Amino acid sequence: MSASPALVIVGSGLAGHTLARSLVSLGYAGSVTLVGEEHHAPYDRPPLSKEFQLGDESTLMLQADGLAGVQVISGCKAVAIDTDRRALALSDGRELPWDSLVLATGVRPRPLAGSDPQAPVHFLRTLDDARAIRAKLRDGLKLTVIGGGPIGLELAASAGQLGARVTVLEAAPRLMARTVPPTIAEVLLEHHRASGAQVLLGAQVKAVQRGGVELADGRRVEADLVVVGIGVVANDDLAHAAGIATDDGIFVDANFRTTQPDVYAIGDVTRQRNPISGRFERIETWSNARTQAQALARQLCAGTNGAPRVVTGAAAPWFWSDQGNLRLQCAGLPQGDQEVRRGDPATGLVVGQWSAGRLVGVAAINAPQDFNLLRRILDAGQSMTPEAFASSTELRLPPNHTPEGPAEPVPVTVTQSDAPAALAPSAPLAQVPSTLPPPPPPTAQGTAPDLAACPLEYIEEGAIGSTSLPDGTRIAIYRIQGDEVFATDDKCSHGSSSLCDEGSLEGHLIECGLHLGSFDVRTGKPVSAPCTKAIRSYPAQVRDGTIWIATQPIEPSP
Ligand SMILES: Cc1cc2nc3c(=O)[nH]c(=O)nc-3n(C[C@H](O)[C@H](O)[C@H](O)COP(=O)(O)OP(=O)(O)OC[C@H]3O[C@@H](n4cnc5c(N)ncnc54)[C@H](O)[C@@H]3O)c2cc1C
Ligand code: FES
Repeated sequence: MSASPALVIVGSGLAGHTLARSLVSLGYAGSVTLVGEEHHAPYDRPPLSKEFQLGDESTLMLQADGLAGVQVISGCKAVAIDTDRRALALSDGRELPWDSLVLATGVRPRPLAGSDPQAPVHFLRTLDDARAIRAKLRDGLKLTVIGGGPIGLELAASAGQLGARVTVLEAAPRLMARTVPPTIAEVLLEHHRASGAQVLLGAQVKAVQRGGVELADGRRVEADLVVVGIGVVANDDLAHAAGIATDDGIFVDANFRTTQPDVYAIGDVTRQRNPISGRFERIETWSNARTQAQALARQLCAGTNGAPRVVTGAAAPWFWSDQGNLRLQCAGLPQGDQEVRRGDPATGLVVGQWSAGRLVGVAAINAPQDFNLLRRILDAGQSMTPEAFASSTELRLPPNHTPEGPAEPVPVTVTQSDAPAALAPSAPLAQVPSTLPPPPPPTAQGTAPDLAACPLEYIEEGAIGSTSLPDGTRIAIYRIQGDEVFATDDKCSHGSSSLCDEGSLEGHLIECGLHLGSFDVRTGKPVSAPCTKAIRSYPAQVRDGTIWIATQPIEPSP
């Protein structure tokens, strides 16, 4: 290997892009080249079936900064790997030498057999696919979605919101059969039917023709537009042709090494041992792609920049799926030998799975905070008894909980319901003792904290409270430890999630409960994707045992 190693990443989707950014931020000592087949700047796929279809493109693009020094080659496909000469051939005839090669080539939609080439059939994987669908969606359009998996159901929900008449055809006897327990599948079915979609289960598609879909049992479903979401196949051809072990996915070990020295793979394309099931599986989720990329970056930097060797931790796989106003989150396995549920879909439903007495999976509907707590327990390889899950009024981390990841142990969040009722958004300020001390002087930013939010003791150390400004804006208040308090807007800038109701505070980071983006509570600046826009922060101080905040925010710097 040369003194300055050449690292080439194939695929500029979430995994490839995250790896390149992480390498830059960790100070990788070699050169980095990112090769992507798509012509667009790196973008995020989850919004394609959701916000993007409703006209909101604000969350689409991945962070453009942070790639300083990375050579980005777009609109160019990698066509062959020469492992002897350590060279990568590109579709434009160029050849790139590499010392380390990372394959982040993702997956592509599984094709549908029996489709008339003239039929209006679409798939949904890329920005171009999403644009083509969006251009056709309109009020009254007859849309048939083939496949009741997450992407099909998300699109069905978005199209329904736009007034389309939606039919979902699912071959299995229930929705999302591969990824959610039957209890959750039932809730999804009711949700989509209640939203106006016609959902046919056990519906085998025989052929798609112009104007409609013919089912194996002879029924015909009229359609102006058909979108197929029947799963994906791995883009592993490049690896396979180079003699790397594949099976609808590139086999990797816990350190993302393929069977070829110095060739790694990350993201949807990988087949890695699932820490909970013990099987080699492909995990097609946003969090998996991102976590793998970050872990590989740490590993590749180990030794090149003096960083210690990294042992990658196995995290429980998890994903979210937003289907209209229904928020689904799942971690671990969809089924065990014992299932326990708590709550209901309206107020928050959580379904836990146990296998041989051990918690192995959790699925939640509209209950992000409980979900995140249980996900942490799974991640740490810890458990909770089914009895405690079912009977406790409020879920808590076990006393011996080890926080995941390399971060220092930090105080773990106390849920909103731990806070006294006085901290609820509508809490009247009269709840605050009437003999208030005088307000504190202006802060260094020149803004005077002018609103007495609540007594300090109302928010435990490491917990989140809330208050409302006179104009109704809800504010999240974070007590780190002692008198150290901060305040920000309550609403996550990525979506509509409430940081105090659904977030988790770890040190100075508030992690959004919905998609786990995070912000620094001291500045409101985004720390991790998918959050890219800052939230406003409000100067906060403690004076004589009362938390004061300024009603004038510090506008985030661009
Ligand atoms: C519509 C949609 C909605 C989703 N919603 C969610 C969600 O709500 N929650 C969730 O957890 N996950 C969701 N996902 C899944 C998530 O987006 C993926 O898990 C994630 O994008 C995987 O990232 P990746 O980088 O591994 O693969 P990709 O994002 O697929 O990127 C791979 C890239 O490699 C490129 N490439 C392939 N071969 C070559 C080659 N030979 N040369 C050069 N470039 C190449 C491809 O063109 C592609 O750009 C969704 C996916 C889609 C499509
Ligand atoms: S709503 Fe998506 S990270 Fe907060």
